[in-house]
Amino acid sequence: MRCQVAIIGGGPAGLLLGQLLHRAGIDTVLLERRSRDHVLSRVRAGVLETGMVYLLEAAGVGARLRAEGLIHDSVRIVSDSTDVKIDFKALTGRHVVIYGQTEVTHDLYAARDAAGAVTLHDCDAVTPCDIDTDAPYVSFTHDGQAQRLDCDLIAGCDGFHGPSRHAIPAEHRTEFEKTYPFGWLGILSQTRPVGPELIYANTARGFALCSQRSPELSRYYVQCALSDSPDDWTDAMFWDELRRRLPAHVAETLITGPSIEKSIAPLRSFVCVPMQWGRLYLCGDAAHIVPPTGAKGLNTAASDVAYLFDAVHKYYDAGDETGLADYSTRALARVWKVQRFSWWLTNLLHRFPDQSRFDIEVQQAELAFLSESHAAQTALAENYVGLPH
Ligand code: APR
Ligand code: PHB
Repeated sequence: MRCQVAIIGGGPAGLLLGQLLHRAGIDTVLLERRSRDHVLSRVRAGVLETGMVYLLEAAGVGARLRAEGLIHDSVRIVSDSTDVKIDFKALTGRHVVIYGQTEVTHDLYAARDAAGAVTLHDCDAVTPCDIDTDAPYVSFTHDGQAQRLDCDLIAGCDGFHGPSRHAIPAEHRTEFEKTYPFGWLGILSQTRPVGPELIYANTARGFALCSQRSPELSRYYVQCALSDSPDDWTDAMFWDELRRRLPAHVAETLITGPSIEKSIAPLRSFVCVPMQWGRLYLCGDAAHIVPPTGAKGLNTAASDVAYLFDAVHKYYDAGDETGLADYSTRALARVWKVQRFSWWLTNLLHRFPDQSRFDIEVQQAELAFLSESHAAQTALAENYVGLPH
C-alpha cells in the first residue's frame, strides 16, 4: 500500500488535514485505531474560532455548520462581586461559533467518504517507521494481517495517547507539563440553556461553566476534586452545586433535567518540542494539551493543520521544502500563545486548594480590573475568538 501522506489518527486533526489535502489533489490514507462509531461517540466542546470556521469551509464541510452553528458574539464572566460581558463583536469585530466537535468529526468523515479517500478503522500496532529517511512508512495490523503503508510524509494526528510523539527520539524531545489540582465534572442535559451566552463563574465555591450544544441541549461544568468520581454526584447534587456557583438571578432561571452524559476530566497543560522529526509531523493533541477553560484544544489542532497543509501543499506543488522545515517552529509560536491564554484563564477562574488569602485577593482584583478595563477585555476577546494563523 502506498500514498503521498500517511495520516495516523481519525480525530478532528487527521480528518481536517486529510480533507484539505484531498481538495489539493494530494492523496492520503488515514489509519484509525478505534471504530467509526467509537470516534463519533466522543462528547467534546465545540467552540469554533473564526480561523477554524474558515478551514472547515475550505475543506468543503461548511454547509451544516452554517445551518446549525450558533453564532456567539460574547461570553459572560461572573464572580461573587463582578459580572462582565466580554463583547467579542464590539471589541474585535469577530465572533465564535458553537458547533459540537462530534458534528465537526461527523461532517469530516462524511466528506472523506464522499471523496473516496481510504480510511482504515480498528488498526492495531500502528508505528511510524524510518521517519528520518526519505522513504518513511507506517507498519500496522488490520483484520489480523500485518500491513505496511509506504509514503512520503507522515502526519501524527493520534492524540495524546498515540504513538507518533514517542517516535521522536527521547534525547531530542522536550516535554513541558503542568497539571492542575482539580477536575471538571461535566453533564449534558436535554434542557434549554440557562441563557444565550456562555457563563464562566469564579465563586468562593469554585469554578462553574454554563455552555450549550444547541437551543435544546445544555452542557454544564463545575470544578471538582481530583479524587471525585461521577458516581459521587447525583444529578440533584450537581444542579444544587451549580446553582450555588451562579448569580442568584441566573440560578433561579436554570432549567434542570436528567443528565444524558456525566464525566470528570482532569486539567493539564502539555507541549512537546519539537513537533516534527524527519518526515513525521505532529498535529493537535499528539503534540499539545490545554486545560479546557479557553476551549482551545480543537482550535489549536486546526491551526497546526493549517500550517502543515500549507507546507505540504508547497512541497508537492512547487518542490518547496521550507514550510516543512519550519513547521514545528511556526506551529509552536502559536501553540505557546494559546497555552499562555488557557493557563491564564484557568488561574483566573478557579479556586486552587493551596491559594493563600493574598492569592484570592489578587485573583478578585484581576476580575475587577477585567470588568473595568476595555484593554483587558480586548486582550481576552482577541485570544478567545482566535489569534491569527
Ligand atoms: N493508531 C491510530 N489511531 C490512534 C492511535 C493509534 N495508535 N492512538 C490514538 N489514535 C486515534 C484516536 O482514537 C483518535 O481518534 O487518534 C485520534 C486522535 O484524535 P483526538 O484525540 O481527538 O485529537 P485531535 O485530532 O488532535 O483533536 C484534538 O480533540 O480530543 C479533543 O480536546 C481535544 O478538542 C481537542 C481535539
Ligand atoms: C463546552 O461546551 O464543552 C465548553 C465550552 C467552553 C469552554 C469549555 C467547554 O471554555
